[in-house]
Amino acid sequence: MTRRALSSLLSAMLLGLACSVSSLAVGSIDAGRLSFADSGCLDCHGTPPRLSNNANSAANNPSAISAAISGVGQMRFLRFLSQQDIDNIATYIGNPSLTDADCTFNWAENFGPVFFSPKAKSVTVDGRYQRFYANSKLTVAFANGKILLQDGASPGTGFVEVANILDFYTLAINSDCK
Ligand code: HEC
Repeated sequence: MTRRALSSLLSAMLLGLACSVSSLAVGSIDAGRLSFADSGCLDCHGTPPRLSNNANSAANNPSAISAAISGVGQMRFLRFLSQQDIDNIATYIGNPSLTDADCTFNWAENFGPVFFSPKAKSVTVDGRYQRFYANSKLTVAFANGKILLQDGASPGTGFVEVANILDFYTLAINSDCK
């Protein structure tokens, strides 16, 4: 597959899908994992998916967090959290075992098995977080906010930048990382 073919393929995937994506707030699992620890949720509720005091009701459900911040006395100090912080935390509680990148890989494997199969494990190579797909010989990598592709069927080609991570992550998270 040539570089141009690769980029057109990805653009087509993006364009086709962008139309069908709802305007749900997109929470980041990675940012939510940090906020969950930094804001003290972890100290009082423990580690997802086994949270105390019914905090699992917040899985993918930001309004449960907002309601608890207004309604639970011990949580009132959390009123400083932004809506984005709350969206991030709810997304993390809903997907505690994933990262943003793995969510996107999992979605891609289900969405485009012709290119992204068999299902692969993530590894870190030279600062890139990547998976290799033996059937297509494509390596998909996440680095510095970008998605990169390397086509192993064209020897000597390096990684080509094809998209921003957020473009595909938005699709992935709206489809529950599946
Ligand atoms: C100082 C301790 C404390 C901290 C910090 C705290 N919580 Fe809570 N939270 C509680 C307690 C106690 C309850 C149960 C209140 C009850 O059942 O009356 C609760 C209840 C909840 C509920 C359940 C509300 C319901 O549906 O019944 C959710 C969701 C929740 N917390 C999420 C969070 C999140 C997310 C954070 C971090 C942003 C957080 N909490 C931080 C103590 C805390």
